[in-house]
Amino acid sequence: MTDITNQTQAALDAIAAAPSLDALEEQRLDALGKKGWVSLALKTLGGMSPDERTAAAPAIQSARAAIADALDAKKAALETAELEARLARETIDLTLPAAPARRGSVHPVSQVMDELAEIFADLGFAVATGPEIEDDWHNFTALNMDETHPARAMHDTFYFPDKTSDGREVLLRTHTSPVQIRSMLAQGAPIRLIAPGRVYRSDSDATHTPMFHQVEGLVVGRDIHLGHLKWTLETFFKAFFEREDIVLRLRPSYFPFTEPSVEVDVGYSTEGGRRVVGGHGDAPGHAWMELGGSGMVNRRVLEFAGIDPDEYQGFAFGLGIDRIAMLKYGMNDLRAFFDGDPRWLQHYGFSLFDQPTLSAGVGAKV
Ligand code: PHE
Repeated sequence: MTDITNQTQAALDAIAAAPSLDALEEQRLDALGKKGWVSLALKTLGGMSPDERTAAAPAIQSARAAIADALDAKKAALETAELEARLARETIDLTLPAAPARRGSVHPVSQVMDELAEIFADLGFAVATGPEIEDDWHNFTALNMDETHPARAMHDTFYFPDKTSDGREVLLRTHTSPVQIRSMLAQGAPIRLIAPGRVYRSDSDATHTPMFHQVEGLVVGRDIHLGHLKWTLETFFKAFFEREDIVLRLRPSYFPFTEPSVEVDVGYSTEGGRRVVGGHGDAPGHAWMELGGSGMVNRRVLEFAGIDPDEYQGFAFGLGIDRIAMLKYGMNDLRAFFDGDPRWLQHYGFSLFDQPTLSAGVGAKV
């Protein structure tokens, strides 16, 4: 009898002192396991006479109950302590929202620039860039507009008060065409590139903002002709607008840096107050819209850029990115592009995950 009392007390002490769940499990096996001393004691009851059993059973039963209760209580205590330690040890990264609420968005202009790059990359065009703060030699002179050229005045140029160290005027580039010059000087011929970016003119109304976006295209090689230009633009616009019925009209025009020069118009119709690209501009219910200028690179420009015009020819184009973005995604006020109104951005912006690719489509899935 005292044996059981002592043994029980020893077990309860060991349980209370168990430092871990593993140690506690050892104590459980030691007492209540198949070969534990309590289990063995219980087995001895079977071989006893009824009287002996009546005398011995209560002590063993209560020992078992006391040990089982102590094991449960200690187990709960150890588990709580372990959970607390884990919570203190493990930090949870709360920076990723559980419900992916859309925070920022990709501006349609950025999205369209990515689309452009993707399409032209497939045609073997590299993407070039140049400075937005330019000098008048790259922006005008080398593009066949000397100081007295009337086209200079038509560009509504923003000039800086200071000049470069070699006496050139400093200005905000009025078009992406100076990137033609910089690229030809840097890499020579042959060339196949686009140059998307910001340009600036002192002009502001519903269809003009002082800063807007253009993409320049330049191809220089042997035997390049106007047919290459038309095919390239047509192929591009079909991919960009994701429709086959794109009809372009090349209209004779004038730019000092191209000869001959053509303006590029696209046929469109109006559906539900919205302009939809496609179809012949002279067809019933259709009209033409100007998308940009282009032409064969003027011999003088090739010469300025150090390329022999008897060996190489080229074509160039300049398109308004904002305008083609408006056409594709149905915005009607250019000024809203640059207001930074979160409601507009929420509505017209794109998900970061919506990367234009030729395989998945350059059109956004919204
Ligand atoms: N730079 C011209 C403009 O801004 C567009 C253009 C580019 C025209 C290339 C012809 C060739 O209006």
